[in-house]
Amino acid sequence: MALLEGKNLTKSFGGVLAVDDVSFSIERGETVGLIGPNGAGKSTLFRLITGVHEPTEGHVFLNGDEITGMSPHEICHRGLVKTHQIVKPFEHMTLLENATVGAEFGGREVDHPQEKAYESLEFVDLDHLAHTKPDELSVGALKRLEIARVLATDPDMMLFDEVAGGLDTDETEAIVDLIGDIKESGKTIFLIDHVMRALMSVSERVFVLENGQLIARGTPEEIQNDQRVIEAYLGKSAGEDAGVAAGD
Ligand SMILES: Nc1ncnc2c1ncn2[C@@H]1O[C@H](COP(=O)(O)OP(=O)(O)OP(=O)(O)O)[C@@H](O)[C@H]1O
Ligand SMILES: [Mg+2]
Repeated sequence: MALLEGKNLTKSFGGVLAVDDVSFSIERGETVGLIGPNGAGKSTLFRLITGVHEPTEGHVFLNGDEITGMSPHEICHRGLVKTHQIVKPFEHMTLLENATVGAEFGGREVDHPQEKAYESLEFVDLDHLAHTKPDELSVGALKRLEIARVLATDPDMMLFDEVAGGLDTDETEAIVDLIGDIKESGKTIFLIDHVMRALMSVSERVFVLENGQLIARGTPEEIQNDQRVIEAYLGKSAGEDAGVAAGD
């Protein structure tokens, strides 16, 4: 049975059809990438899956159970969490306190929240800064703190919304390594990114969204050679918009 399944997911905001009849399934242990031009509906699809928005139509199943319409808190309790595209840690709290919020209030009953939070900081290589405030962090470290926050909820499946966005080469490499470690620890990952090299290197399969619709799915190699995808996204303008060249 698929770990995550979306059936005919649709979301309209007034006149804007942000997600248009999207169906997919992801098996336990898989890492799947989601790409597409700006405004394609990627973040909205993630919000439908994690209960931030209720779909206009369609259904979401986690482990065979319908989770459509449940709150993000309840969905987290069932083991599915998402990072935020725009990272906003609590500035007045230390990194350990920030990660502890995930462990304590994320929805899953973690026995020793602070230990779990510290473990998560170790995992993302921020434990040496556990007692500092996030305003001292680089963009890459902030993204890793965001990953630690969701890791501390002890999830089965993690959705990453642009965790490699805006990073320099070294920071991107650190995130790619980290995603590899998270995969190895047995978690299922669904990630959005415009940084093609990072996304293609960690994903076993890639979905492509354009104008709210899934226009292609396949292995990274199949997607990179798909004419429609090259035209919609990987080719010239969209690639440049996203700060990456085709095949980057
Ligand atoms: N809360 C909202 N209210 C109204 N319109 C919205 C809302 N959220 C998203 N949209 C619209 O839905 C469409 C899809 O937006 P979304 O943020 O999902 O795109 P995206 O693929 O994540 O883009 P990006 O790559 O820039 O992050 C856009 O036209 C956007 O303006
Ligand atoms: Mg987005």
